Amino acid sequence: MVDRNGWGRDRPVLTGSPRSPPASFVEQANVSDPGIYDEFEENWPECWERAADLLSWDQSYETVLRDENAPFYQWFPDGKLNAAANCVDRHLESGRKTHAAIRWEGKHGERVTYTYRDLYVAINEFAAALRELGVEEDDVVTIYLPMIPELPIAMLSCARIGAPHNVVFAGLSADALATRMDAADSEFLVTCDGYYRRGDAFNQKSKADNALLKLEQDVRTVVVDRLGDDLPHVLGDDEYDYHELRELFAGETVDPVPRDAEDMLFLMYTSGTTGEPKGVVHTTGGYLAHAAWTSHAVLDVKPEDTYWCAADIGWITGHSYIIYGPLALGTTTVMYEGTPDYPDRDRLWEIVDRNAVDIFYTAPTAIRAFMKWGPEYPDRHELSSLRLLGTVGEPISPRPWNWYYDHIGNGECPVVDTWWQTETGAVTVSTLPGVDEMKPGAAGPSLPGMDVRVIDEDGTEVDPGDSGYLTIARPWPGMVRTLYDGDERFRTEYWDRFSDPENDDWRYFSGDAARIDEDGYITVLGRVDDVINVSGRRLSTMEIESAITGVEGVAEAAVVGRSSETTGTDVYAYVSTEGGYDDTDVREAIVDSIETAIGPIARPTEILFTPELPKTRSGKIMRRLLEDVANGEELGDTSALRNPEIVGEIQAEIGEE
Ligand code: WTA
Repeated sequence: MVDRNGWGRDRPVLTGSPRSPPASFVEQANVSDPGIYDEFEENWPECWERAADLLSWDQSYETVLRDENAPFYQWFPDGKLNAAANCVDRHLESGRKTHAAIRWEGKHGERVTYTYRDLYVAINEFAAALRELGVEEDDVVTIYLPMIPELPIAMLSCARIGAPHNVVFAGLSADALATRMDAADSEFLVTCDGYYRRGDAFNQKSKADNALLKLEQDVRTVVVDRLGDDLPHVLGDDEYDYHELRELFAGETVDPVPRDAEDMLFLMYTSGTTGEPKGVVHTTGGYLAHAAWTSHAVLDVKPEDTYWCAADIGWITGHSYIIYGPLALGTTTVMYEGTPDYPDRDRLWEIVDRNAVDIFYTAPTAIRAFMKWGPEYPDRHELSSLRLLGTVGEPISPRPWNWYYDHIGNGECPVVDTWWQTETGAVTVSTLPGVDEMKPGAAGPSLPGMDVRVIDEDGTEVDPGDSGYLTIARPWPGMVRTLYDGDERFRTEYWDRFSDPENDDWRYFSGDAARIDEDGYITVLGRVDDVINVSGRRLSTMEIESAITGVEGVAEAAVVGRSSETTGTDVYAYVSTEGGYDDTDVREAIVDSIETAIGPIARPTEILFTPELPKTRSGKIMRRLLEDVANGEELGDTSALRNPEIVGEIQAEIGEE
């Protein structure tokens, strides 16, 4: 693997002055005993029973961890449980039938509340319908829906019958959907006619149709009618209307299928170091236990809370912290369909105010936007219901951290900066808000029971103040079990680089660089592989490059990340064209090709045309150098390049813009 983003570049990363959690918060926190770190350490791995105990098991587990076949670990392997029963049924039994499970806020101000009872009815009916359509245990059901209630209903219906779901973010393209359905051998799809985007009706079904044309397998599709008369559609063969199915199976119940703890709960495709997305496999027991435990210990979720994670369920954050974690704990989770600035820039604060939200969890990219818009928007609303704030998805520097703390939390709410990944399943590094001091700009120490280490190239832990590779030295319940594309890729992507199998020493490599301080607090510096993080969304530069080089007239392309005030990182593309073509011929086609292959989220902010790309003598494109150029950084010695003069030309070109 090439280190492309160069953490050695030593960006000045400062942490702000530490802050202690307010006493009033500590008093009521789910976890407030500092002894928890030692307790977990001394009692590892059995300490993780605390997480498993938050769940209801159909058959209790006897073993906590099976590690004979590392890195293919098994957690709670002989236990059995059902995730949907844990997230819904058991709350009815505990007298919470009429308690709100999901409060849905539509884009145009529509509001729908699903009580636990409503959710129970919906998932039973839809589970019955899925069975009737032929979905059997272990069949992968792909879900391609925007943020409407049918998305969690479909996920939990799948979980009920033991069919792993494969949610594809609704904004991804038809090609991206096809790749993911093909890789997952998925013969079932749940999608919708369309949804509203910036006020316009946007056709989702035609994207799904285009995807299915590319697949060899026959697919049965359920279509949710979201737009009604705004976008009439006709159902074809093998297509079923969601609402009709619900009516057909009205009142039906389906017993939740007891699943082995290690059975797959879902698949989530994410960007990796090659062009092909990786199918991350999460299991029923370990994943759910970890998601529930961190919702309890880090996000301090309590059943009586109204909790809001303003992410999209199409990515892991929404899976773990809009659906599985909070519903497992029986709380009220808010689900928002729209954007933060529609109809106005106070939209989120209006929702917090009206719903008396206790806990709010979002991404730094959103916080930077709030900061730019100014405090007058949150100031219009009563935000005193808030007790805890969280952030996830990218590094957050002290300035936006402090802004969030002061203007949204009114200096009274702890802020948890939570580092984790699709592959870790749930939060891995964060402060415990009822225990630890916060340091703006540093996520925090490893959570109790986790063992995150920052190491150098040789695997030696770096000294406090130094940076290195962010690795994890012990397994944990929510960890990715393998990649759907195969065990081999799982080993090469995550384990080979820093593990020593001969000595049974296994190290998970995250792909991130980090710095650690004398208190063990970790500041994440960003990716060191071919992944870039745009507005908290993971994209593969290789995938974007291959979309660009697929365009007629393009000779070569290199895609790098450029630091951005708002998005964290922008997509920056360098392109050289073949003889006879110039940039005006291909610019539009490049954008189209990227949108077709991936989706509008991967559109470059800048496409810079250059006669050649800088290369080493062996012919490798120097992406790291191109990244430095895009970021206006000082360049080191370029004399080892085959074509050093091109760097000056590129810089001159950028300078003229
Ligand atoms: C980045 C999202 C700094 C990191 C949950 C990681 C962060 C990637 C943080 C995973 C954080 C996530 N501070 N960086 N608090 N949280 N990241 O898989 O680069 O979409 O590897 O999971 O986001 O992105 P993913």
